[in-house]
Amino acid sequence: MNPSCDLGMVGLGVMGRNLLLNFADHGFRVAGLDTDPAKVTALSAEGGSRVIATGEARTFIDSLRLPRAIILLVPAGKAVDAVTGQLSPHLAAGDLVIDAGNSHFKDTERRAKELAARKLHFFGLGVSGGESGARRGPSMMPGGPREAFERVRPMLEAVAAKVDGQPCVAWLGPGAAGHYVKMVHNGIEYGVMQLLAEAYDLMHRGLGFSNTQMAEVFGAWSQGPLQSFLVEITAKILNKLDPKTGNHLVDEILDVARQKGTGKWTSQEAMDLQVPLLTIDAAVALRDLSAYDRERTAASRLLNRPDKAFAGDRAAALAQLENACHAAIVATYAQGFALLRKASEVHGYNLELATVARIWRGGCIIRAALLEDFRAAYNAQPQLPNLLQDPKLAQQLMKRDEDLRAALRLAIDLGIPAACFLSALAYLDAYRSARLPTNLIQAMRDFFGAHTYERIDEPGTFHTQWE
Ligand code: 6PG
Repeated sequence: MNPSCDLGMVGLGVMGRNLLLNFADHGFRVAGLDTDPAKVTALSAEGGSRVIATGEARTFIDSLRLPRAIILLVPAGKAVDAVTGQLSPHLAAGDLVIDAGNSHFKDTERRAKELAARKLHFFGLGVSGGESGARRGPSMMPGGPREAFERVRPMLEAVAAKVDGQPCVAWLGPGAAGHYVKMVHNGIEYGVMQLLAEAYDLMHRGLGFSNTQMAEVFGAWSQGPLQSFLVEITAKILNKLDPKTGNHLVDEILDVARQKGTGKWTSQEAMDLQVPLLTIDAAVALRDLSAYDRERTAASRLLNRPDKAFAGDRAAALAQLENACHAAIVATYAQGFALLRKASEVHGYNLELATVARIWRGGCIIRAALLEDFRAAYNAQPQLPNLLQDPKLAQQLMKRDEDLRAALRLAIDLGIPAACFLSALAYLDAYRSARLPTNLIQAMRDFFGAHTYERIDEPGTFHTQWE
C-alpha cells in the first residue's frame, strides 16, 4: 500500500471518529483502525473516500507516511498499554504515538520512557470538548518531546477550536505536562459543575423556582460575566422535556453521579503536593456522597428538619446567588491554577499559565469568559503565585464577598447543602488570613508529641514542658 496518510487514529468510538473526521475536513489524509467491524463500517460510511478505515493493523501502519503520527483514542488504562504494545513492533524510529485519552499522568510518564527506549516518541494529549468538540474544534493540551509536537503542530492547530483567530492548542511542556493539565482541567470541571448544581438546588428547593424559570436565570447569567459553556448547557438542560413522561427530563434523572476518576486524581495529586484544593475536594466528596442514595433516603426521615419557606426578596437573593457563583468559580479556578503552578516546579513542566488560560478559552468544557481575565493576570505577572493575588481579580472578588456570604446564609438557614460554596468561602477566608489558628495546632503537637514549634519573635525550634 502507498503510505499516503498524514495521520492515523486508533479507536473509532465517537471521540476517535469525530476527531478523525475533523482532520479529514481540514484536508488531511487520515486512516482509522478499530477491531470492531461496526466502527470501521461507521467511519467508512461517514468519511467516504477521504479516509481509510480498517480493522487490519498492517494495512493501517502501511498507509501512514514516515515518520508516522498515530493518535490513540482508546479507554484510559490497560487499553493504552495493549494498543501501544501491539503497534510498537511495527513502528520505526522517530514515529510518534499520541495518547489522546484521559490517562493518568504517571502512566504517561512511564509510557514515554518505555517508548523512548525503542526510539519512539510518546506524547500525552489532553482533549476536551466532548463529542461535538472533537468534531468541530476541541481544546487540546499536548505535552511531550517538543520536536515531535512541531511535526504535528499544523494538524493540531487546524482542527482545534479558535478564539480570536488563535487555536486552542499549544505545546505545554515535556513529559506528561499535557495529561497533567487535562487532569487539572477536569478537577476544575468537577468544582464548577458542583457549584452550579448547588445553585440550582438553592433556586429550586430554596427559592421555589420552576425548571423553566431556572433555565431563564442560567440563560441570563450566560450573557453576563458568568458566560461559560457549563452555564449555557445548564440552561438548555433545564428546558429539556422528557419524551417518555412529558415532564422536565432533569426531574426524571437519578441523583447519583458517576465518575471516571480525573477529579479524584486532581485531589489526590494536590494532597501529595500539599496544595489546598478545598472546592475541588468537596466536589469529589459530594459525587461520592450522592452514591449513598439509600442511606440518604433513610436519613432524610431520621434527620428530618421542618421545612423552612423562603420569606425574603427573590430578586435580591438571585442577584446575590449570581455573585456568589462568580466568586466561588474564581476561587475554584484559582485552586486549579495554584496546583499547576506547584506541579510545574515539582515535575519540571515549566508551564506558562497564561498559555494554559489561553487554550482553555475555547473548545473545552471549562471554557468561560473569566479565562480571559485569568490570561491577562498571568500575562501581567507570569510568576503570580495565585490568581487571588492579582489586584483586578482580588477587587472583583471582594465586590462579591458579601453576596457569597449572603447566599450561604440562605443555604444554611434553609438546610440546602452547599458544600462547594462553603469550601470556596473557607478557602478565601483562610487564604486572606494573615494569621491562622495553626499556632494552636503547633502547640498541641508539641504538647502531646514534643514535635516542637517555632516562635514569632525568635528563629529556631522550641519545646515546652506543657504540664
Ligand atoms: C472533557 C471532559 C471529558 C469527560 C470526562 C468526564 O474535557 O471533554 O472532561 O474528559 O467528559 O472524562 O469525567 P467524569 O466521568 O469523571 O465525570
